[in-house]
Amino acid sequence: MIIDTHAHYDDEQFDIDREELLNSMKENGIELLVNVGADMESSEKTVELTQQYSHVYGAVGVHPNCTLDLAETDIERLKELAAMPKIVAIGEIGLDYYWDDPERDIQRKWFDRQMELAREVKLPMIIHSRDAAKDTLDMMKTAHAGDMSGVVHCFSYSVDMAREYLNMGFFLGIGGVITFKNAKKLKEVVEYAPIESIVIETDCPYLAPEPNRGKRNSSLYLPNVVEEIARIKGLEAEQVVELTKQNALKLYRL
Ligand code: NI
Repeated sequence: MIIDTHAHYDDEQFDIDREELLNSMKENGIELLVNVGADMESSEKTVELTQQYSHVYGAVGVHPNCTLDLAETDIERLKELAAMPKIVAIGEIGLDYYWDDPERDIQRKWFDRQMELAREVKLPMIIHSRDAAKDTLDMMKTAHAGDMSGVVHCFSYSVDMAREYLNMGFFLGIGGVITFKNAKKLKEVVEYAPIESIVIETDCPYLAPEPNRGKRNSSLYLPNVVEEIARIKGLEAEQVVELTKQNALKLYRL
């Protein structure tokens, strides 16, 4: 069965049918999923979801675009949340120069602080990096991320950059974008990366795969992502499900 390594079911887009949807996962081949925090509120909600559903695990952290009002007291709170039983990672953390807000110095300060937190609590990191390839890599190297572990979620860079992260022992998170016709660069990355380094994710409610591109995404669309990875790697869909599941279990130490 499939593991969704990155989802946001706390999002208000799921307010109308969250319970029904989450209760339908297992019968639709989704074994477990990791709900990922993006700010303090969604990190708190993530913990609640892990308590309500046996197949929901969680990550707590603050997304770069949500770091403007962050304070050291929030980091202390994240540390408490990270100690909860089903919290398996710190994330999503990183740099986003596409939206470029707040200013880069603030993003970098809190990325660094949250990498330090991951080290303190001994959990893997979920990295969000958009249009910030060089700074992300430089900061991770400076923080010795190579002797921690984690995933670069919704990987969007080149093969050269993928090689750098793979050398650090990080996984690459692949989601709906891989099914898009214009995703040439990402298809090259999936061709290049060993299947042992790939994990499957939705980032739902965003980034639904074809043929549902543009709609609200959910873990139920993951078979479309699996099929495209299988096609690129010359594997059976069942093999991709099984191998990426083992990778996800290893990533989150489940
Ligand atoms: Ni996300």
